[in-house]
Amino acid sequence: MPDSADVSDPDASLQWPLPQPAPAGALSGGGPLRLAVMASGEGSNFEALVDACARGLVPGRVELLAVNRERCGAKERAGRLGIPCHLLDHRRHASREALDHALISLFRENRIDLVVMAGWMRIVTPVLIEAFADRLVNIHPSLLPSFRGADGVGQALDAGVTLSGCTAHLVTAEVDAGPILVQAAVPVLPGDDRERLHARIQRQEHRILPLAVGLAAQRLAGGAPPQGQG
Ligand code: GRF
Repeated sequence: MPDSADVSDPDASLQWPLPQPAPAGALSGGGPLRLAVMASGEGSNFEALVDACARGLVPGRVELLAVNRERCGAKERAGRLGIPCHLLDHRRHASREALDHALISLFRENRIDLVVMAGWMRIVTPVLIEAFADRLVNIHPSLLPSFRGADGVGQALDAGVTLSGCTAHLVTAEVDAGPILVQAAVPVLPGDDRERLHARIQRQEHRILPLAVGLAAQRLAGGAPPQGQG
């Protein structure tokens, strides 16, 4: 746990260990990583990643956002941030696989190195997972392997845990079960409801997602494997 963590601060995150961001030269080809983000909702993680790239915390650039909803906060943020946004409406695709094929085409056309699922509210299929094996990162609002699947925040509250958090991990065929890249723990406080706890968890998501992207990049470049995956 970082020395500076103050556990009396409800925003304190207990994070073991504190990963270091990937050095800029650690990537294949040495150039900046070309990132794509998939989102369905507010897009706060998308914006946090764009910010982290701009501040040099991630050796890459968010080249595009893919959304599956015409109206969503993520799309509005993309407009404000000047990031190209592509709408792939799931209702216009005959199957989950067809949607995933459309995503793959978009990513390949844009020479995307690494894809981040940041609140993508559709189940992805092996079509996408295999095409972007080791290059697909997801952020989930619980300390995996606890509370996988939908409503991780509500599941934690229902279970009565006093500690929850968030996990950034690589995506594999089993939902929310791929190799863990970074986690942060968040206390559940008396009187918490879904909204309050989720807001506190999201502040930590915004910190760990850029770190996880850097670690995934390092891993691709043959650098140090993520903790616990050695
Ligand atoms: C995050 O809490 C993430 O863990 C979950 O969906 C939420 C997306 O939030 N998968 P936002 O759209 O990034 O604000």
